[in-house]
Amino acid sequence: MKNIWRIVRFTSQLWPFYIAISFFTVLLALMGVLQPLLTGWAIDQLRQGTHANLHNLIVIAVAIFLLDFFSNIFSNISGYIGDQLNARLSYYLSHRYYEHLLSLQQQFYDTELTGKIINRLNRSISQITNFFQFVTNNFLQLIFTTIFTLTVAFHYSWQVGLLLASLYPIYILLTIRSSPKWQHYQTEKNDNLDIANGRFAEVINQVKVVKTYLQEKRELNLFDHHYKKVIDINKPQSKHWHVNDFYRRIVLNVIFFAVYLFIFVQAVHGQLSPGNVVTLILFSAQIRIPIFTISFMVDNFQRAVADSRDYFEIMEIKPSIDDKPSDHTLKLSRAAVSFNNVVFGYDEQAVLKGVSFELQPGTKTALVGESGEGKTTITSLLLRLYDVNSGSIAIDNQIISNVSQASLRANIAVVFQEPALFSGTVRENISYANPKATEEQIMAAAKAANAHEFIVKFENGYESQIGERGLKLSGGQKQRLAIARALLKNAPILILDEATSSLDSKSERMVQEALERLMRGRTTLIIAHRLSTIQAVDQIVTIRNGTVDETGSPTALAKSGGIYAQLLALQTGSSEATKKKLQAYELKG
Ligand SMILES: Nc1ncnc2c1ncn2[C@@H]1O[C@H](COP(=O)(O)OP(=O)(O)OP(=O)(O)O)[C@@H](O)[C@H]1O
Ligand SMILES: [Mg+2]
Repeated sequence: MKNIWRIVRFTSQLWPFYIAISFFTVLLALMGVLQPLLTGWAIDQLRQGTHANLHNLIVIAVAIFLLDFFSNIFSNISGYIGDQLNARLSYYLSHRYYEHLLSLQQQFYDTELTGKIINRLNRSISQITNFFQFVTNNFLQLIFTTIFTLTVAFHYSWQVGLLLASLYPIYILLTIRSSPKWQHYQTEKNDNLDIANGRFAEVINQVKVVKTYLQEKRELNLFDHHYKKVIDINKPQSKHWHVNDFYRRIVLNVIFFAVYLFIFVQAVHGQLSPGNVVTLILFSAQIRIPIFTISFMVDNFQRAVADSRDYFEIMEIKPSIDDKPSDHTLKLSRAAVSFNNVVFGYDEQAVLKGVSFELQPGTKTALVGESGEGKTTITSLLLRLYDVNSGSIAIDNQIISNVSQASLRANIAVVFQEPALFSGTVRENISYANPKATEEQIMAAAKAANAHEFIVKFENGYESQIGERGLKLSGGQKQRLAIARALLKNAPILILDEATSSLDSKSERMVQEALERLMRGRTTLIIAHRLSTIQAVDQIVTIRNGTVDETGSPTALAKSGGIYAQLLALQTGSSEATKKKLQAYELKG
């Protein structure tokens, strides 16, 4: 129930639609009540059968025609407004969800499956809009029909009125009683659907791996397994629903039986005219509609609650990284970065156990350490994708958690370990940081990244589609586009995570050149396994066991006997064993 109110609040901008629909439904309800009254009146006129009565009967016929005519018009207008309301309702729900997801910290995405997140949205949207459509189209009409019908029934016979009124609580009670069990089944079904569809999206995304490892069948079986579970759960769930519906209808039938008996007995005793009898019977029949509507509504409600539970679960997650307001901007002067005794772990286990080092303005620093030591983690912390557990990171003496995330990230360009691109054109990808970039700016970035050359060889040049995540590009091409994208951002601080890892020596040289251009004059943090990249830096910071092992210039560290010196020795060493070791190290990226 709480969730339904949340949706109502969410969508309070839609009130003109709600009011318009309510207006028409009330009109329609009023018109619905007039019909049986007119029919009852017609019967009494018929019994008298004079000429004057014929005149009245014609008036009644015209009135019924007009009622039908206008209810036709009104119901279509109200349906039209209902459609507009629905389209907007799904838009609001999706928009809020998307907006909220984009505000969530990286940690959320580390654990949730993409397919699951999307599946939850689609399911909730369709059930919530269904429910609201049903409610807006029926609720007020239902209330009014009920009130009018019961009033008229009470007017003719209080016993009939009472019997009809008793239907509501009994019916609602029976429906509500069956609800928790039904919802329990539904949640279980949704869990299975989420797993199946989450995996589905993941498989489609990485279909190459599935095919290469010949796992199509297994993936399909896994999918079937969960869908079969849904079918299995559906059986008791549906049975539960129909058994309950059977009982509800029995109650309904018994009460109607009593109602008719009463009407007939009263008619025989002359307490009701034949016209009254017809009116009452029509009213009693009419009251079945709101009763069924209620049960449909409760049913729809159950569905909406069960199916939107996950949606609201996600909506309730508070971003764990609290952002500072936009007036807390990072004031950049020299772009000096310092890590002060930073401790961090993704879970209980600490990855960084007190890391301190400084990046001098406009210089290049290389992070060296074995795979899994936390190099990429350090860059994520600088971007504040995660918060440190203790210690601090500062840029120009401003602690990054005290400034807005937007102002922090505006000053840092990153070439990620995996060059993540978007579907769309080459141009769109390069200008991602600034969609308003001019032709010259885009081309200059591409040239500096040594990408221009291969881009113009494409049939459509800068307008070529690169496929989802850049799938139509080679590894090196992707990296160069990612470098061009970072170049165009033109930020004073630069992070390069293994930007040359998957390249042959010629492309590596080209990318290296591009990187040199990119790094000029910027405070740069480079993570590279290749010594060629590292040798030209101003400072090397080596990481071992979650702390800084050594800090110094390449020449100083070459002599110290630490990780860097070992790497150098491996490279200059000639034995097969040391070469293998070096290769293994280089391949780790
Ligand atoms: N999103 C995450 N959630 C939980 N643990 C993570 C996550 N990302 C990394 N880790 C763990 O943190 C540790 C450091 O990972 P990180 O990616 O920083 O290593 P790295 O030094 O960049 O390694 P490589 O040289 O292989 O890229 C690893 O043990 C890894 O298992
Ligand atoms: Mg890494």
